[in-house]
Amino acid sequence: MVNRMSRYDLAVIGAGAAGMMCAGVAGQLGSRVLLLDHATRLGEKIRISGGGRCNFTNLHASPANFLSQNPHFCRSALARYTPQDFLDLLRRHGIAWHEKHKGQLFCNDSAEDIIAMLRAECAAGDVALRSGCTIQAVRRAGDDFEIDTTQGVFRSRQLVVATGGLSIPKIGATDFGYRLARQFGLHIIETRPALVPLTFPAEAWAPFAQLSGIALDCQLSTGAGKGKGSFREDLLLTHRGLSGPAILQISSYWQPGTAIAVDLLPDDDAVEWLLGEKQATRRHLNNVLAQRLPARLADAWCAMEGVSPTAPLGELPDKALRRLGERLNRWELRPSGSEGYRKAEVTLGGVDTRALSSATMMAESVPGLYMIGEVVDVTGWLGGYNFQWAWASAVAAARAA
Ligand code: FDA
Repeated sequence: MVNRMSRYDLAVIGAGAAGMMCAGVAGQLGSRVLLLDHATRLGEKIRISGGGRCNFTNLHASPANFLSQNPHFCRSALARYTPQDFLDLLRRHGIAWHEKHKGQLFCNDSAEDIIAMLRAECAAGDVALRSGCTIQAVRRAGDDFEIDTTQGVFRSRQLVVATGGLSIPKIGATDFGYRLARQFGLHIIETRPALVPLTFPAEAWAPFAQLSGIALDCQLSTGAGKGKGSFREDLLLTHRGLSGPAILQISSYWQPGTAIAVDLLPDDDAVEWLLGEKQATRRHLNNVLAQRLPARLADAWCAMEGVSPTAPLGELPDKALRRLGERLNRWELRPSGSEGYRKAEVTLGGVDTRALSSATMMAESVPGLYMIGEVVDVTGWLGGYNFQWAWASAVAAARAA
């Protein structure tokens, strides 16, 4: 039975980044808000993000930093809640931060500061919080939504779904949002792990597995036309394949079965450099390569190319050096897969935004139903963009609800 006191203006399912932000803002704007989560610890992804310091936004966030089947969808929300707005919130809570790299902003102390801030914002909005609360069913009851849970039945005039994506199931990720969206007739863009390390068949990777731990600055690219991704960041070799910021970024653009091109010497024309060195030096190939590449990688590279690492450069034919140089600037690799949702930072795809209002996040065909944060088909690059989307989409829904 529905308790009379259990009727709310707004119920938010999912107390992660987007859900807590939305509940706090809506509560402070005067709505009676209920926030539900099946987990007992709130904001777990915030806690583990950014190496424990939460890369909470990016100063340069713009629609160009997001992937979606509907690339303009994120424009309105991002324009109406900017990184500066989030910094104002941090200022009010006395949270210190710093810029690390390419506009990426991190907490000076701990990601816990962000969770505490969002909890305080919810408290300021008199949000009723139910954690450890399993949602059993959601249905329409007249103009309301009725939510069956292990802590009772709740009614609300409006419902916000903020249950995030599928990555890191062990800390509470579920497909709840997608199932609920389907129940209400919304289409889901196929999901897959993104911002994720890429893997190779064990045999093909064997020569590189021993180089695990080597990191180097590279330019990576994949795809073509609108689906093309190109990033200059650090690449990390691992036992099973490739990781590091460059690979995480490119993984969002990589299509299974296709190749990625790695430029190991992005500042140089490697053919010109090697031919120039041939005139100027009597040194061995591996020593020359080691000027620009980690020495262990230089040796493995020679072995892969079938050239003796100790061959004197002057004795190698121009043709061989040309081939070597071309491959240094364009090493084509075909990953066999990724480390999956277990290691992915985000989920690509999700609720099709063509059915949502870009101003409010409300489903056009289901008045009162909103979808925010990662459950929606908007996926940011690595670097604070995903949290900025969580904040911006949350505020758009909170102001409308
Ligand atoms: P989020 O995942 O934050 O919250 C969803 C909530 O819904 C959770 O509390 C969950 O328990 C709840 N839920 C799920 N299913 C439910 C169900 N069936 N019933 C009830 N509740 C349910 N981004 C960034 O911008 N900067 C960064 O530094 C990082 N770092 C980072 C590190 C790692 C390891 C990961 C995995 C991810 C990141 N991210 C990131 C991505 C970022 O964490 C992510 O995009 C946002 O948390 C998404 O916010 P949401 O609120 O949409 O989902």
